[in-house]
Amino acid sequence: MTQKKNSQKILKLLADGKFHSGEEIGEILSISRSAVWKNIHELMNLGLDIQSTIGKGYCITNGLELLEHHIIQNQLDNIVHQHLNQLIILNRVDSTNEFLISQANAHCKETVACFAEQQEKGRGRRGRHWASPFGTNIYHSLLWHFAKDPGEILGLSLVTAIAVTRALKKYGVEQEIHLKWPNDVLWKNRKLAGVLLEMVAESHSNCSIVIGVGLNTRMSSQQASTVDQLWAGVFDIINKPVERNKLAGILLNELIHVLLQFQYEGLTPFLQEWYSLDNLIGKPVVLFTSNKKINGIVQGISHRGELILKNNHNEIKKFLSGEVSLRAL
Ligand code: BTN
Repeated sequence: MTQKKNSQKILKLLADGKFHSGEEIGEILSISRSAVWKNIHELMNLGLDIQSTIGKGYCITNGLELLEHHIIQNQLDNIVHQHLNQLIILNRVDSTNEFLISQANAHCKETVACFAEQQEKGRGRRGRHWASPFGTNIYHSLLWHFAKDPGEILGLSLVTAIAVTRALKKYGVEQEIHLKWPNDVLWKNRKLAGVLLEMVAESHSNCSIVIGVGLNTRMSSQQASTVDQLWAGVFDIINKPVERNKLAGILLNELIHVLLQFQYEGLTPFLQEWYSLDNLIGKPVVLFTSNKKINGIVQGISHRGELILKNNHNEIKKFLSGEVSLRAL
């Protein structure tokens, strides 16, 4: 426990990206230099890129901004404060989605938001792994309850992706951001964010959902070594350190605003925005469903959020789920 607390204190010291000697750290924490080294090792095992240089000490390359409950809380506007029952910040968790799913019974009527510094088993769509190294990117889940039949919330994944683009815009990132059905957020065709919805409970007129958003801010090539697609982080776009707390707060604001509108008005008020961000419209694609591969030209999306394709026989078909790849003409 003390060791854990010490490593947290050291992490806060090193977060500024500057060198701190073992002697200085030992004095501040009243521990020996070998204890400092042990704690540093523990942090390195979390995947943190800590440099150790003789005569200078220890430094986290590029520094980092740790998540702070009060800073995120202060970003939230009045409407969000009214609707959010709990904001949880975790250090390390298997998956923020899984964490909220396990909490859902205890919060069967509450809206709960969760952010984590690291996910050990971050989940992506279609059983994929979501790279979630410590102290970087945003790993967020929100437990939300709809007084609706599950069939009425099919457009939810699309509006969640729209919320992410709105948050990025408010943060100052807008150029070359696109959406790829059903919910990928891309920058220059590289994946910036992904959405994973998991149903927790459903009945005839109610459903509880965990809405998971992974938003890349920055990863070293080593941290991203398990990512099997083209990706980008907010850092690549703005070329300066990302204020994760600010971005996290803005994201939660946008998400809750979008959900409030979606639950009363559905997808229709969002369709125009979707079209302005959609990068598939008019393009030839292959759609991979669980058991089929379909070639077609994207015609748009339906008011329920289905992908509309014109196939090789000029037939118009709608699809509720699947994975889309662009096809060369
Ligand atoms: C995708 O594959 O595009 C979806 C990725 C979703 C990742 C987020 S990170 C927070 C939440 N917790 C998880 O385990 N997954 C989602």
